[in-house]
Amino acid sequence: MDQHSESFENSANSIAPAAGKLGVMMPGMGAVATTFVAGVEAVRRGLAQPIGSVTQMGTIRLGKRTEGRSPKIKDFVPLADLDDLVFTGWDIFPDDMHTAACQAGVLDRELVEAIKPFLQSITPRPAVFDRTFVRKLDGPHVKAGKTKMDLAEQVREDIREFKTSSGATRLVMIWCGSTAIFQRPSAALQSIEAFEEGLQQNDPNISPSMIYAYAALSEGVPFANGAPNLTVDIPAMYALSRRNQAPICGKDFKSGQTLIKTVLAPGFKARMLGLSGWYSTNILGNRDGEVLDDPDSFKTKEESKLGVLEHILQPQMYPSLYGKINHKVRIDYYPPRGDNKEGWDNIDIFGWLGYPMQIKVNFLCRDSILAAPIVLDLVLFLDLAQRCDELRGIGIQEWLSFYFKSPMTAPGLCPEHDLFIQCMKLKNTLRYLKREALITHLGLEYYD
Ligand SMILES: NC(=O)c1ccc[n+]([C@@H]2O[C@H](COP(=O)([O-])OP(=O)(O)OC[C@H]3O[C@@H](n4cnc5c(N)ncnc54)[C@H](O)[C@@H]3O)[C@@H](O)[C@H]2O)c1
Repeated sequence: MDQHSESFENSANSIAPAAGKLGVMMPGMGAVATTFVAGVEAVRRGLAQPIGSVTQMGTIRLGKRTEGRSPKIKDFVPLADLDDLVFTGWDIFPDDMHTAACQAGVLDRELVEAIKPFLQSITPRPAVFDRTFVRKLDGPHVKAGKTKMDLAEQVREDIREFKTSSGATRLVMIWCGSTAIFQRPSAALQSIEAFEEGLQQNDPNISPSMIYAYAALSEGVPFANGAPNLTVDIPAMYALSRRNQAPICGKDFKSGQTLIKTVLAPGFKARMLGLSGWYSTNILGNRDGEVLDDPDSFKTKEESKLGVLEHILQPQMYPSLYGKINHKVRIDYYPPRGDNKEGWDNIDIFGWLGYPMQIKVNFLCRDSILAAPIVLDLVLFLDLAQRCDELRGIGIQEWLSFYFKSPMTAPGLCPEHDLFIQCMKLKNTLRYLKREALITHLGLEYYD
């Protein structure tokens, strides 16, 4: 019996209740963050439904199919109630969330006006910002400090202040800021000691998102990363997360084109259909699109989007089916579209005896509408993890891969990209935490 099945057999339920308020802290209060916060408030007031949120709408089957037990996930595990969420954030622009939501132009004006005073009450704190990491942006609402450690201390002070002023019993931080330029992990990112030395010495490899993450984890606050930046995907943060029992997860919300890719590719592989090429292109006109117009920021996004197929299709195992794939991803900044991105996928597959076929996908999506429920679920699940004895101290929460384009894993492990395996991993983790039998879908027991 392995360690986990032993503890499964022996231990009682070990999740603390979700008592009191949960404070949600967002570096970056742009399109995704405002769509998320406005959406939570609209749902709380009965103006709309939380569509796309697995925690709010999803169910989980327990036991045998014949038992008829399928509670809602939020009734099965103790998640924070939407009424208990309180919000704050940071941005390089001083606009409150009402102004920012209007500027983002994602939600109908009617909805935004219906909750105007609430949105106006959420104003950003001055940001930690460095233009070398996001070249297309500049804003006045920023912190000043002699060293990066000074800036981290200021963010820690913000965290403590928010906890006191909001009365929150627990906090979660989620990066909703812009995508930074492409970075490889350098020496200063390899251990907590090297990182802290780097903060003191203003090491150029330490980015603003890492400073927020360091501040959060130092305060014992879990951190999720919605962008493809390294941020918490470095050894220093793995160690800090474990040491301070503050769970982490990332990277890059899996919202639109990649979501569809991780639905279709497992289907081809399950049927042993070959793939010779996948050309994905997008037009996008929001601020995210503008930031991604910088080739170095795009490179971070491109790496995140490209990894998916290789991991799902395993070309080394199936060279004749997937050994020669042309995989291209393009994003063009095209202002008229705003947040309503359009993605085209041309997929060249081949079947029996090598005969070629094509599939075209034209996805007219809404980026932030797809991302907002991901933010909500991550906030609620990370909070669950911090109240759970078995998850709190493990660092990376791989069971949340379901929500990410580049899921973080323990070093040396291959990430799981297949959406359906990710979904099973998530639900089995919840069953495991509640001491319910894991579901294997074997099903032979029905024919005994
Ligand atoms: N579907 C999606 O929308 C989606 C999917 C995957 C990933 N993402 C990522 O989520 C992030 C947010 O997307 P968005 O559409 O809301 O972008 P956005 O440009 O509307 O918002 C980002 C906000 O972050 C702020 N910002 C930048 N650097 C900051 C810093 N150092 N500190 C504080 N604030 C900072 C910007 O001023 C801006 O208001 C982006 O990195 C994007 O790539 C979005």
